[in-house]
Amino acid sequence: MSDSENNQVIDKVGAAPASGSEAGVAMEISGIRRSYERGSLRREDMPGDPLILFEKWLKEAVDASLADPTGMVVATVDGQGMPFQRSVLLKKFDHRGFVFFTNLSSRKARQIDAGSPVSLLFPWYPLERQVHIQGRASKLGSLEVMSYFASRPRDSQIGAWVSHQSSVISARSVLESKFAEMKERFREGRIPLPSFWGGYRVEHCSVEFWQGGRNRLHDRFLYTRSDSGWNIDRLAP
Ligand SMILES: Cc1cc2nc3c(=O)[nH]c(=O)nc-3n(C[C@H](O)[C@H](O)[C@H](O)COP(=O)(O)O)c2cc1C
Repeated sequence: MSDSENNQVIDKVGAAPASGSEAGVAMEISGIRRSYERGSLRREDMPGDPLILFEKWLKEAVDASLADPTGMVVATVDGQGMPFQRSVLLKKFDHRGFVFFTNLSSRKARQIDAGSPVSLLFPWYPLERQVHIQGRASKLGSLEVMSYFASRPRDSQIGAWVSHQSSVISARSVLESKFAEMKERFREGRIPLPSFWGGYRVEHCSVEFWQGGRNRLHDRFLYTRSDSGWNIDRLAP
């Protein structure tokens, strides 16, 4: 997709001010913007189940050859309410929730295990769309984890053994030598699932679809779970 097709408007990028050498001072970014015109959402188009629209949008993100169409930002909070965010890859979704895999000793895993609620964001900027999901995460059972782990490329399986994710390390060489050591250790046969590796399923209690619109009049529809199904509200942009 060319910039003009995408209606990209970039004013004054790189126009340096008269003085100032601090980072951020010499870079003019306030004019970077574009008009969102690719689509719209109407109430009559909203299905009763948000997963139906989510699946359609995800398919469109894949078909549009976006980089990492399954990439999503996972937000959690620590015990003080300090928020943390990071990208992970969505690996499965259905009426039970949205699944990702990770190290079970990582910062995100510790925060989830301590009771943090979870928010997910799919930022499909080239399609002028985002989907925001909220819910509670629960750890996947070992069978589900094992079946996904077995499907990963061998070097990724070894990588899972190498990284004590989110811990402080002294240098990259620590990782490289551990990788070589593990590669040798698991030279033959099946690579076992590390006990510290697994996944979470985020059971969605709300799903919001955002489609950019002209003049910043974007379309937003929020699904919230109720006893009888899903409530659907249009939100102001
Ligand atoms: C595109 C992308 C995909 C990623 N996918 C995963 C993933 O599926 N699982 C994972 O644990 N980390 C993934 N990461 C790394 C995480 O963003 C993060 O650095 C890591 O999980 C540690 O996060 P934490 O210290 O907050 O727990 C990915 C990063 C990027 C940029």
